[in-house]
Order: sequence, then C-alpha cells, then structure tokens
Amino acid sequence: MSAKGAVVLVTGSNRGIGLGFVQALLERGALRVYATAREANSLRDVSALDPDRIKPLVLDVNDPKQRQAAAEQARDVTWLINNAGVPGSRDEKSRILAAPDLDEARLVMQTNCWSPAELCRLFAPIILKNGGGAITNVLSVGAWYCVPEVTTYSMSKAAAAMMTAGVRAELDRGPILVSGVYTAGVATRMSGNQGMDPVAHGRQVLEAAARGDTDILSGAGVERLRDEVRADPKAVERARIERLHAAKAKA
Ligand SMILES: NC(=O)c1ccc[n+]([C@@H]2O[C@H](COP(=O)([O-])OP(=O)(O)OC[C@H]3O[C@@H](n4cnc5c(N)ncnc54)[C@H](OP(=O)(O)O)[C@@H]3O)[C@@H](O)[C@H]2O)c1
Repeated sequence: MSAKGAVVLVTGSNRGIGLGFVQALLERGALRVYATAREANSLRDVSALDPDRIKPLVLDVNDPKQRQAAAEQARDVTWLINNAGVPGSRDEKSRILAAPDLDEARLVMQTNCWSPAELCRLFAPIILKNGGGAITNVLSVGAWYCVPEVTTYSMSKAAAAMMTAGVRAELDRGPILVSGVYTAGVATRMSGNQGMDPVAHGRQVLEAAARGDTDILSGAGVERLRDEVRADPKAVERARIERLHAAKAKA
C-alpha cells in the first residue's frame, strides 16, 4: 500500500501520533488526508499544514452519528488509520478489582476496540468500492502483556489486536491490506513525551505498509520488548507485577 495518491482518514489527528501520520502522509504524496478530531478548533493548525490536501472533519470515534457522517462525507477514502485512543487512568480506576466500577474499563474498550471496529465496518465497503487500499489499526506493545497500572488499556489493545486479525481474515480475498501497529514509546502526551518522534513513527508505519506488512512494529525499544516477550513471557509479566507492588509499597 503506497501513501502516494492515497486518500486517508486518520482518527485523532489533532496531536501526537495521529498528527505524525498526517505529516508523514503529506510528505509521501497522499492525495487527500481527512484529519479528524473531537474538537474542530484543535484541527486549525493541522489544516494549515496543507489546506488543499487536508480536509478537517469532526469525529468523536465513540459517537455513532459522527462516525456515520464521516463515512458519508469521506466517500473517496482508500486508507483508514484507526489511531485515536485513550490510556485509562494510572490509578485504581484502571484496575479490575480496585476500581469503584467498570465504567472506565468500558470507555477504554469502547474507544480502543469497539469504535475502531465500527469504523472498519463503515469504511471497508468504501475502500473496496474505491478499488482497494488499507486499514491500519494502531495497537500497542501493551497488547502483548498486561501493564497492570493500566489493565484496561492492555485489555483493549489485546482485544483490538484480535479484532484486527478477524477483519484481516474476513477481507483476505480482497484488495485491502489490514495491519496492526505494535507501537512503543513515541513522544506524545500519552507517553509523557518520551520516545520516538511521532513523524518518524508515521514514516516507519508507511514504509512497512508499502512492503505489505500486516504486523508492524514501531517506536523506542520495540524490537527489544518483542524479543523479551518471545524469550520468556512469564518473566515479562513478573517484572510488571513487581513494579506495580514496588510503587504501591512506596506510596
Ligand atoms: N505514545 C506512545 O508511546 C504509544 C504507545 C503505544 C500505543 N500508542 C497508541 O497510539 C495512539 C495515539 O496515541 P498518542 O500517543 O498520540 O496519544 P495522545 O497524544 O494522547 O493522543 C490521543 C489522540 O486520540 C484522540 N482521542 C481520544 N479519544 C477520542 C475519541 N473518543 N474520539 C476521537 N479522538 C479521540 C485524542 O483527541 P483529544 O485531543 O480530543 O483528546 C488525541 O488526538 C493510541 O491508540 C495509543 O494507544 C501510543
């Protein structure tokens, strides 16, 4: 899948990794980019990057009416990038037993798994009608093991990884490349601004998609993490458990 000439819709493109995708797509010759965000105002600077090629659209991924409206307006899309996501709180609210209820877990699952699935359902037929293209779901290395400070986040990304595999299987006989991106450490608000530059992340993902990769790894230390998980998944789990309890003991 080449970015050149593609018509791409990116969710959560007002900042962070989503904005990095928009910039990388413009660099690589995308024909049009639907830059979408919950707040229209947050897209003003994004649109100014290239007013001819960027079409701003309001899209809260959790709002069914806005999803439908986006699919009606962006009829020429050939590439959907499901990027918008939430990390969940880093306190008891994101734990399964200590949370007062599972409302936050539901919101994280909705935003990171169910809403991207709904967007796949809306845009796969559009991409097919336009002759084929790609669906790229931004997952996380948090799908490989539980990060117990934000269990709901790991749950949602692991579920989204399976959702991505299911969509890929259903579309296997057609001309749509369905990829999951196992991202680690990109410098955004979510990561406390630590890690890889979001535009560099965007470029790596576009290059992997151009090769036809279905499992894409990008971000600081991602290969090392993959090797650790492959070599000894229980050791990786144990290290996270110890970190959780060390922090609790300190608090
Ligand atoms: N940064 C990392 O190291 C890292 C690592 C692994 C995976 N990821 C994944 O990368 C993706 C982007 O994260 P990021 O690091 O760029 O985080 P970020 O800077 O916090 O940006 C998150 C983006 O998602 C948007 N968003 C959240 N809820 C939304 C909703 N209901 N509808 C539409 N947009 C919504 C935010 O919009 P608002 O501005 O309106 O809040 C923002 O644009 C996420 O899926 C995240 O899980 C990031």
